[in-house]
Amino acid sequence: MSNNFSKMRTLVVEPQNIDPSSYAARTTQSLIEELTQRTIDIVTAKSYEDAKAVILASQIDSLVLTLDKSEEQIVHSEEEIDLLNTLKDRQSEVPVFLLAERARTSILANRKLMERVDECYSVLEDTADFVAGRIVAAMRRYREQVLPPLMKAMMQYNDIHEYSWSAPGHQGGIGFTKTPAGNQFHQFYGENLFRTDMGIERAALGSLLDHTGAFKDSEVEAAKVFGAHESYSGIVGTSGSNRTIMQACLKDDDIAIIDRNCHKSIEQGLILTGARPVYMAPTRNCYGIIGPISKSTMAAANIEKMIAEGKMTKDAKNKKPKYAVVTNCTYDGMVYNSEHAESLLSESSNRIHMDEAWFGYARFNPVYQGHFAMRGDAKDHQGPTVFATHSTHKLLNALSQASYIHVRNGEDAIDFDRFNQAYMMHTSTSPLYAICASNDVAANMMKGQSGLSLTNEVIREAVIFRQSVRKLFNDYTADGDWFFKPWNAEVVTETNGDKVKFEDASVESLMTVQDNWKLHPEDKWHGFDNMENDWCMLDPIKVSLLTPGLDDKGNFLEKGVPAALVSAYLGRFGIVPTRTTDFQVMFLFSMGITKGKRDTLVNTLLSFKRHYDKNASLETILPELVESAPEVYKGLGLRDLGDRMFEYLVRHNPAQVLNEAYSTLPEVELKPRTAYQHIVANEVELVPSDKLEGRVAAHSVIPYPPGIPMLMGGENFGSESSPQIQYLKALEAWDDEFPGFEHETEGAEKEHGKYHVLCIKTDAL
Ligand SMILES: Cc1ncc(COP(=O)(O)O)c(C=O)c1O
Repeated sequence: MSNNFSKMRTLVVEPQNIDPSSYAARTTQSLIEELTQRTIDIVTAKSYEDAKAVILASQIDSLVLTLDKSEEQIVHSEEEIDLLNTLKDRQSEVPVFLLAERARTSILANRKLMERVDECYSVLEDTADFVAGRIVAAMRRYREQVLPPLMKAMMQYNDIHEYSWSAPGHQGGIGFTKTPAGNQFHQFYGENLFRTDMGIERAALGSLLDHTGAFKDSEVEAAKVFGAHESYSGIVGTSGSNRTIMQACLKDDDIAIIDRNCHKSIEQGLILTGARPVYMAPTRNCYGIIGPISKSTMAAANIEKMIAEGKMTKDAKNKKPKYAVVTNCTYDGMVYNSEHAESLLSESSNRIHMDEAWFGYARFNPVYQGHFAMRGDAKDHQGPTVFATHSTHKLLNALSQASYIHVRNGEDAIDFDRFNQAYMMHTSTSPLYAICASNDVAANMMKGQSGLSLTNEVIREAVIFRQSVRKLFNDYTADGDWFFKPWNAEVVTETNGDKVKFEDASVESLMTVQDNWKLHPEDKWHGFDNMENDWCMLDPIKVSLLTPGLDDKGNFLEKGVPAALVSAYLGRFGIVPTRTTDFQVMFLFSMGITKGKRDTLVNTLLSFKRHYDKNASLETILPELVESAPEVYKGLGLRDLGDRMFEYLVRHNPAQVLNEAYSTLPEVELKPRTAYQHIVANEVELVPSDKLEGRVAAHSVIPYPPGIPMLMGGENFGSESSPQIQYLKALEAWDDEFPGFEHETEGAEKEHGKYHVLCIKTDAL
């Protein structure tokens, strides 16, 4: 198989203590020459620390370790073992070769070292040519063996160099080369993408839709890695995966228990199925951060009550809901104790779906234990049927649109053929195999120790970042000054049980002691009034920083630094936070994190503070903003604008209005499907915010942040003073006052300074 798309790479570790004129050094050199002649890429490291850095930053196909230690030294040697542990954590099967002369016999006495080495050579006995040949053969075997099933099959198929007479029409990319633009497209993405973009007639690979051949093998492997009974590889994002599950579980008029903090694909699932929703509203804290749904809201008694009282559902009060969905983790990084959540919801429904679009890595790190859907061993599963959906492309490593559905069959399990009917509706008969292969690789990357190693690295960086910001916060506040404050516990538990300040804790304890991330009812830092014990933890890698402006109870301070301004500033430096509320900016740490990226963020926060405190001119700091609205911003400094924004927030308190808009759910008049049908029939009209009283929305209205539907299709805006209408008006006023800082509100169009929402015509109701 031509698995030589990239050159194979050997890391040669030759510690500095080796005398360059020694026999060991010379034989290593001749081995390097032999490997180079075989077009192997050689990376050399002169210290164990260097070697570790190479291992952590890149992939190698073999490691050659030259030892020139005495017999006595080698028997007690630990540093080589430490290096090889780092390697095996990341690339468990990579071949390791030891070149040793002096200590040849005593190496055998160091069992730990020998366990981690594949072959051990004496270059006095074997020629460099022979050793190089064995290394190359081992590297080839390694490359073949590390490939997951689908990727391997695709590479093998690519070797055939077929002439195809079917779609896709570009025929391995050749079609693109016929015009200059096409040619650039071809060159930009490279040959292999096009060569492996094949129609589904290639029976040798099997079929994604029928789950056969290499596709089946890949899904079986993914199920093992993610702890599912069955896994389905999705190519329409978690959006498609969510809709698939809903279509497999729900039919017209069934009752569905829906987390109000849901992605819009869930609303689309309701539209497609015609199910009747009852919504579980999440909690919100004083900073506007969305918390978990409370236990009492999830409890069967409450769900029964909501069904009995809902306008759409009251005639179905004896019907058991057919499906329940919870977003885990939430957009703000809140994670449920999923064992408790599953057990509570299973009192109401036999099918539970955890939308873990942003949480696919949880199974691989013990810090998340008990807080994700596919816990423990699939064979021990009892209770409801549980689904998890993962956007592998979000926080694992896969191409956009790649997603997995993982299933644990329990009560009311859906057999494979029936489920596949729904699956096929949300796939395509012409899937891009590269997406499927990236899913295959995403699963493979998390297999064995590498899942732990990769997640540990992200968590470590996030922890160090949080601690650095907290230390800066402490330093500045001690001087009566201000800085950003990480949103996390203030006092934590060390691995030995001692209580310490967060910033003084060992990184190890913050990476491993789950309790350090739990939201305890008695703690003040999280700002949730009625947090339940052992119900929710904060995901360490979803880092929120609070800007000054609110006290612990959510009351305005005298001065504040609006987060919108911080995000605008960061944006100028190519740093894009994942979320910004009034006094919160949030950053996602993912596997693409580097120390440079982490430290640049700290530097940029510091430079924001410097410019803010100096009241640097907006014309210098945010020139595009001033150009876009000189009548508002010309002549202002950064702090002037911050003060103006803060004053506005104090005066209008939009967070309070938003809180009200989310604390009372609007009246459901129609099912989301019926509302949608009015759109299809064109029985809808755009209605301005001052005329929304009593109108029924045709689709959902989702303000960002928080990104939660404020209104779903088919829900009534209520009276003129309803918080939903008031919130849209508050947004208008903010947008007028601060052009360039408009909030995004999905489902509301801005015309002539007013938000308009598509509503169902009154006479069509
Ligand atoms: C909770 C949740 N579910 C589902 C999705 C959809 O995922 P995808 O973009 O993979 O379709 C998202 C996207 O942001 C999400 O946040």
